[in-house]
Amino acid sequence: MEKELDWGNLSFGYIPTDYNVRCYYRDGKWGEIEVSSSETVDLHIAATALHYGQEIFEGLKAFRGKDGKVRVFRLEENAKRIIESAKGIKMQEIPVELFTEMVKKVVKLNERFVPPYGSGASLYIRPLEIGTSAQVGVKPSKEYLFLILVTPVGPYFKEGFKPTNICIMREFDRVAPKGTGRWKVGGNYAASLEAGEKAHELGYSAVLYLDPKEKKYLDECGPANFFAIKDGKYITPASESILPSITNMSLQQLAQDLGIEVERRHIPLEELETIQEAAACGTAAVASPIAEIHDIDTGKKYIVSKDGNPGPITTALYNKLRAIQLGEEEDIHNWNTIVE
Ligand SMILES: Cc1ncc(COP(=O)(O)O)c(C=O)c1O
Repeated sequence: MEKELDWGNLSFGYIPTDYNVRCYYRDGKWGEIEVSSSETVDLHIAATALHYGQEIFEGLKAFRGKDGKVRVFRLEENAKRIIESAKGIKMQEIPVELFTEMVKKVVKLNERFVPPYGSGASLYIRPLEIGTSAQVGVKPSKEYLFLILVTPVGPYFKEGFKPTNICIMREFDRVAPKGTGRWKVGGNYAASLEAGEKAHELGYSAVLYLDPKEKKYLDECGPANFFAIKDGKYITPASESILPSITNMSLQQLAQDLGIEVERRHIPLEELETIQEAAACGTAAVASPIAEIHDIDTGKKYIVSKDGNPGPITTALYNKLRAIQLGEEEDIHNWNTIVE
């Protein structure tokens, strides 16, 4: 870095770092881990990633703690989830040990890009696997490239921990290829671009999808899961078409630690009338409180936060999660991997 980054004002974008790490799957096996300082890949024009979207990714974060140590949050859960994504679209599975070693290595190599404690920023880690073999028939690739890039990021929602409005639009589904919403597959995200842009144009921070089949139940937000607090309980949609969010899983555990009952179940849209708090949750969103949910198709408005402030349970969960990630509080569930 020629000059120090403005850590407190980073957006959720891409800033070049020093290195990325790569590993190739060829002749039926994964090769050696390679360190690269190139920001590009050399790809065959007929690669399956380009033509058939054989492309999966993950997203996790490293934080600089109060003690100066660098912690990666829930590395193993991300390693397990990308295996599920690989199975879903017939890609080569990445062994958990390889994933772990590469994450640690890329974070260590780029340690100077891990934002300082107290800046509110973190180092976003983006593992990516692509099918690289030339193929014009619709068949899985024989060869794969697994790479991990990192980039320092600020908050995903620029409003920070302040309630925002989201909207429901039935014309859009979470899922693109049928049933694949639950995997981190590039195509799913490309299919969500139109909904996301439309929501932003209308002045909302995100879209809240309903279940793709009946449009009766809540599903998830564009880039994050959804949870609500109802009569002191943490409720979150059980759905086949949403990504199993590792943040949501963690918040459910933290809620239980606080003696809050957790319900994972179908949540009918009308139930929004009876909730006291709501938030979008994810690696990027953390737990972003929601003020109002507007149903664009019917004109109905669900007012969640009457005073424009985040609710007490959302605030408590947010603070607890952040405290664990930043090493301010004991990591009793062993969620952090310290990079040394
Ligand atoms: C569609 C979608 N849902 C939910 C999430 C949250 O998942 P996690 O908490 O594992 O980051 C993400 C995060 O990338 C996402 O893209």
